Amino acid sequence: MTTAADRLAAQRQPGPPTGAPLPELPPEEVAAWQSRGGELIELLTRAAELGPLAAFTLGPRRTVLVTGPEQVQHVLAQHPDGYVKQSHRAGLLLGEGVISASGEAWKQQRRLLQSQFTSVGLRRWEQRITEAAERTERRWAALARTGESTDVGADLQFFALDTIWRTLTGDPLDELTHGELDAVNEVVTHLSALTATTPADQEAVTAALARIDSACARAIAAARERGDGGERGEGGEGGLLRVLLDAAVTRPEYTDRLIRDELVNLLVAGHETTAKTLAWLFLRLEQHPDVREKVLGICRTGSAEERREVVTALVNETMRLHPAVWLIPRHAAADDTVGGYRIEAGSHVLSSPYLTHRNPELWPEPEVFDPWRFIEPGRRPTRQGAFYPFGLGARACLGQQFSYREMVCLLELLLPAYDLDFQELPTGTFFGVVMHPVGPMRATVRRA
Ligand code: HEM
Repeated sequence: MTTAADRLAAQRQPGPPTGAPLPELPPEEVAAWQSRGGELIELLTRAAELGPLAAFTLGPRRTVLVTGPEQVQHVLAQHPDGYVKQSHRAGLLLGEGVISASGEAWKQQRRLLQSQFTSVGLRRWEQRITEAAERTERRWAALARTGESTDVGADLQFFALDTIWRTLTGDPLDELTHGELDAVNEVVTHLSALTATTPADQEAVTAALARIDSACARAIAAARERGDGGERGEGGEGGLLRVLLDAAVTRPEYTDRLIRDELVNLLVAGHETTAKTLAWLFLRLEQHPDVREKVLGICRTGSAEERREVVTALVNETMRLHPAVWLIPRHAAADDTVGGYRIEAGSHVLSSPYLTHRNPELWPEPEVFDPWRFIEPGRRPTRQGAFYPFGLGARACLGQQFSYREMVCLLELLLPAYDLDFQELPTGTFFGVVMHPVGPMRATVRRA
């Protein structure tokens, strides 16, 4: 166990001489991990034990794992031109959209979207978020009346998709579109296969892409038909798609293809992450009755401010232990020195919020689920790189405020009013592009 004195001493120790080679996992350990078909998270957890920066070689690639707060900040926030995104794994799905774009094109695309996600921009979407949350609340009210069970994970997924779809198009999610957009999950599941595609994978992905494209094409055609001035849809004013179509009038780069890509990018980035975070949150509440009783007590009898505070802390503590985007990859564009260590150009550089958030030097008793860390003064590290579920720097999440808003909105409706009796709980974790619980979350819903 490291004491505060040890940590101070470590901080006083001089760093390595500039340009020193990185601490490295022995190749035989990597080979043993490979031959037993180990999970990537196991290898990364081992590498993180070597220090805030560690290296290993996997096949032809030199990989550097970054978990120290200062080092994470260096890579993600302070040197965006030195550590760049490269050939996104989901290229087929995301095209040239804001997630995978780079350089000047990315800057322009980000600027256009950014204005829609500031505090002021968000006001336009408030009503849609509330409508989606109320729809889910009505579903739970009906379930509580009939006693029928539900898959809580699927309900949360539907809520997140409904929210982003309303924001993009102005319309509530209908059954046909829901069916087609389910294909997003299929493509995401096949992502790892995309680099070494088998014909079967290719076929599955092509079919799924066609369904996604069909939903997007319909939405774009409907938005065009409505024109640019009229009132439309349940949400009144048109959605974010309107902003893209309006941009196309003066900016030729906004072709139909790019508009489709931006739509898909926002759909992909904006629903799976939020849905899985909410799923983890309900799972954690179920696993920790003491926390649940305290949180629900405040939600049900506290003031609006107290409720907001505890719900936000609950979301943060969930994202500390289960950051949906648990791994943030970059490519080192040039040689660099970080904290005295050398990172070679061409290295694959992985920052891991998951591992940083579980570092006992930053977060005492990291495995304990304790939302009060985010409420009680002095209980959480304040360094930016110690908590970064939304990434850091220029390419940090565009939807950060949006997703807090939607999660808090839903939880403020559901937690005071309903209790869940789970019959089935997930048993594992899948560390894909998004980390998520594995298995159904079947429960019956009761009025509190
Ligand atoms: C709990 C929910 C969410 C989490 C944990 C999350 C996490 C992240 C992270 C870590 C990144 C940075 C990736 C990188 O640096 O490579 C990111 C980027 C992004 N996120 Fe989110 N996100 C969430 C919700 C949303 C929502 C609701 C939206 C849209 C409404 C959104 C839109 C985006 C976009 C467009 C980017 C790419 C930004 C760029 O490259 O310029 N995200 N997200």
